[in-house]
Amino acid sequence: MNIIIRPENERDYDEVENLTREAFWDIYQPGCDEHLLVHKLRKVSAFISELDFVAMQDDRIVGNIIYSKSKIVDREDIAHEVITFGPISVLPSLQNKGIGSALIEHTKKLAKNMGYKAIVIFGNPAYYHRFGFKSAENFGITTTDGTNFEAFMVLELYAGALQGITGKFYEDSVFHLDKEELEVFEKKFPYKEKHVTDTQLK
Ligand SMILES: CC(C)(COP(=O)(O)OP(=O)(O)OC[C@H]1O[C@@H](n2cnc3c(N)ncnc32)[C@H](O)[C@@H]1OP(=O)(O)O)[C@@H](O)C(=O)NCCC(=O)NCCS
Repeated sequence: MNIIIRPENERDYDEVENLTREAFWDIYQPGCDEHLLVHKLRKVSAFISELDFVAMQDDRIVGNIIYSKSKIVDREDIAHEVITFGPISVLPSLQNKGIGSALIEHTKKLAKNMGYKAIVIFGNPAYYHRFGFKSAENFGITTTDGTNFEAFMVLELYAGALQGITGKFYEDSVFHLDKEELEVFEKKFPYKEKHVTDTQLK
């Protein structure tokens, strides 16, 4: 399979939003909202355009990864910048062929070269541990409400990058989506039936 990774551009936006909807549909909830998140993320100041990439197979977009700036706020109320990726999407028919891994590896290197300290994400540990992500608890980093769980992970982009940095993690407020906005946005896409599925329980 010949996959090329290149920066996303404005002409890709609709196709990427559709891809995101296809990838996330019914996986974590009946339907999904990640396509709206992608749509909104690109417009906020936290969006990192230099780390927004698509995977191409011939002329078709088959994967996308998108990053935004986030922060760890310490006890003295000092904010330390980190970054977050997501959504990351691969077309369902081409999943498990290394496309997601290629997008993560590619952008991980770039992010390091850009000088970012760490990537903080919520995701499935079974997938992300292979890229070096570790439970945020190991770094003394909690969610905004002070909790830790396996799906909350951190990847230091260079040794000791987070030395002396502990606190609460905040992603951009764009991640808090509005249900009514989603309903309106959904109307731009072809109708898709929502289902309750086993994957939503995990
Ligand atoms: C998650 C996703 C981006 C991974 O990309 P991909 O190209 O399918 O994955 P890769 O080919 O790089 O890696 C395949 C491996 O990851 C595992 N994997 C893929 N998706 C996974 C998931 N959601 N949870 C746990 N493991 C997963 C596969 O079982 C496989 O494991 P193996 O190498 O041990 O056999 C893609 O499957 C996807 O778009 N999923 C739907 C949307 C989603 O869940 N996004 C991530 C939200 S955190």
